[in-house]
Amino acid sequence: MHASTTLYHGPIVHSLSLDELEYAVDALVCVSPDGIINWIERNVDTSEIQDRAASHGLILDGTNNAVEIVQLGGHEFLCPGLIDTHTHAPQYPNLGLGQEYQLLDWLSNVTFPREAMFSDSTYATAVYEEVVKRTLAVGVTTASYYASLHESASKILAETTLRAGQRALIGKCNMDRNCPPEYREPSAKDSIEATRALISHVRAICPAGGPTAPLVQPCVTPRFALSCTSELMASLGELVAEDPSLHLQTHLSENTAEIKETLDLFPDCESYTAVYDKYGMLRKGTILAHCVWLSPAEMTVISDRHAGISHCPTSNFNLMSGGARVGAMLDEGIEVGLGSDCGGGFAIGILSQIRDASKLSKMIALNASTSEPSKKRKYSDKPLSIPALFHMATLGGASICNLKDRIGNFEAGKEFDALRVTPGASPGFFLDVGEDTTATSGSKSRQERVEVLKRNFERFLFVSDDRDIADVWVQGRRVAGSRS
Ligand code: GUN
Ligand code: FE
Repeated sequence: MHASTTLYHGPIVHSLSLDELEYAVDALVCVSPDGIINWIERNVDTSEIQDRAASHGLILDGTNNAVEIVQLGGHEFLCPGLIDTHTHAPQYPNLGLGQEYQLLDWLSNVTFPREAMFSDSTYATAVYEEVVKRTLAVGVTTASYYASLHESASKILAETTLRAGQRALIGKCNMDRNCPPEYREPSAKDSIEATRALISHVRAICPAGGPTAPLVQPCVTPRFALSCTSELMASLGELVAEDPSLHLQTHLSENTAEIKETLDLFPDCESYTAVYDKYGMLRKGTILAHCVWLSPAEMTVISDRHAGISHCPTSNFNLMSGGARVGAMLDEGIEVGLGSDCGGGFAIGILSQIRDASKLSKMIALNASTSEPSKKRKYSDKPLSIPALFHMATLGGASICNLKDRIGNFEAGKEFDALRVTPGASPGFFLDVGEDTTATSGSKSRQERVEVLKRNFERFLFVSDDRDIADVWVQGRRVAGSRS
């Protein structure tokens, strides 16, 4: 663990709700040695740091080596780490490939052959090392990962994230039908045994019980209903029923051909959503990826069960799956996070998902029929606001990963997963002359500096890249960043 308490002084931006961001230019954030945010004070000038710290019992007289002060400079600000609620670690070598396919052909021709290569643990080790390093560099402090179907490689992914200090949910894909023989589990029994072994392993290397959440946690991962026999679905349902704290992730209603095949395989279910509901898989802590073609009735079931949705706009564009109606989900009270989906899209990290989610919401708004009857239309058929987009990238993501008590914004008592953004390093992140957020700049009022911060935050969301992310902290520990 870290030797000292750390005080971060400077501008912060974080999500308070779907509709509200807090912009504070002179915040003082106190992070304990075990990575927990002890307290936050607002409107603290540099000259007041010592007194404010003293009011919390922290003595800063120059002799106290147990307290480190990190002073943000110039245009810098802190924001919470980004949460990728749906990504496939073994698909990274496929990024940019397979542009000509839609979902089912893409799985057969591009994806399954790549994932089959992860039977080789040496290959898995090398790829996963890079995946974790690169996703941390783009500011993803938490990722909900699908590994391949292999137990050994899935354990390697869990060990790699833990070693690198990335918060993660790790799932081994369950798939015992409808996949090529060389990439399919021999039976439901084998699939369940390997799943239980992975859960035990992850919990052993990262036990619960300390002041912070276990950094890496297991996630039950029926790949999608098409790849699981009824027997396997039933056993996985029993597994999660035994343990309400277990996370679960799967794909739902991504592509029209997939939906048709699924309903043919589960003829007693009236919808794709009903298949997962039948096996007890819809509950708090369940992450449903894509959800492009949900009917209003399906959205109501998902909302009633408190399951969450991972919106993957880049992948949904790229595989021509369709445009998910996020506004309607939000109006239904469903928590929504963002997911890169990895191979399905062609971008890593969550900034690109913010950009594509914004573009998609504008297209939906353009195409919306104003005559459509609706009782609740706060978000439906409207462009997603900046607060809503950043909520999905952080607090909403935390919520659907069942980690909202621990991460997602800078509330006292949560863990410090954060980015230091240093605007201006990448070519697109262009600062206007005279835009300075430092308290010492003298001439600007706090309100004027908030306005500059708002502009830089918007630029961060829409034109930055990893060069602008100077530090990445998870649980208070610096794990990546462009600052050398
Ligand atoms: N459905 C089942 N498997 C996958 C996958 O790997 N990616 C996407 N986008 N959809 C899937
Ligand atoms: Fe996916």
